[in-house]
Amino acid sequence: MLKSPRLIFRHFFPADLNQLYQEIYSHPGVARALSPTGSLTFEQTTQILHRRLDHWQKHGFGVWALVYKQNQQLVGHCGLHYLGDTSEVELTYAINPFYWRQGLATEAASTVLRWGFDTLKLQQIVAVTSPENVASRCVMQKLGMKYEKNIEYAATEVVYYSLQSKTFKSETFKSESHLSEHSFD
Ligand SMILES: CC(C)(COP(=O)(O)OP(=O)(O)OC[C@H]1O[C@@H](n2cnc3c(N)ncnc32)[C@H](O)[C@@H]1OP(=O)(O)O)[C@@H](O)C(=O)NCCC(=O)NCCS
Repeated sequence: MLKSPRLIFRHFFPADLNQLYQEIYSHPGVARALSPTGSLTFEQTTQILHRRLDHWQKHGFGVWALVYKQNQQLVGHCGLHYLGDTSEVELTYAINPFYWRQGLATEAASTVLRWGFDTLKLQQIVAVTSPENVASRCVMQKLGMKYEKNIEYAATEVVYYSLQSKTFKSETFKSESHLSEHSFD
């Protein structure tokens, strides 16, 4: 398990399926980002959940369920998985729309990046999204990820961002030393 100030990261259970679909993946703003067709059925959500569980079993890392500490509700997903059939590791996230614009995606994703670089010892993490997904691109930029190119993924054009371990560590070091400077003010 991972933790951040407002979130607990745990594995998904089959029992999460109804809530994951009804409160998160069936929302058009989330489905548009997760599916090339722009919508997700309950069956497709079931398949996504199974693929996530398989990924954890095969590779020892994957996508976490996000639980909001204050009310113990499932509020989204965030984690790492292989990008299609490449050897690149992709950061993915989605938040229940009721909780948007509160910094939760940034909080979850920065915790996952730290896990990826420090614990999994990855050298690079990438992220892709549709060019129009302003919210997701904002999160990537806030995390220090750099836009590199447009690529075709799952038969659609996406923007491709990346972050190197050494860049993440030096940025984290700078922001932490900045915070500690302020704590002496
Ligand atoms: C992308 C998503 C996860 C962002 O979640 P969130 O918790 O609202 O994001 P944050 O609150 O951490 O916001 C991060 C930054 O993005 C900005 N932002 C968030 N949503 C925005 C929007 N719709 N338009 C413009 N900026 C936006 C925030 O203002 C913030 O920047 P700031 O701190 O400078 O103000 C959420 O919109 C979502 O679940 N979308 C559907 C799934 C998705 O797109 N996943 C990623 C692609 S696969």
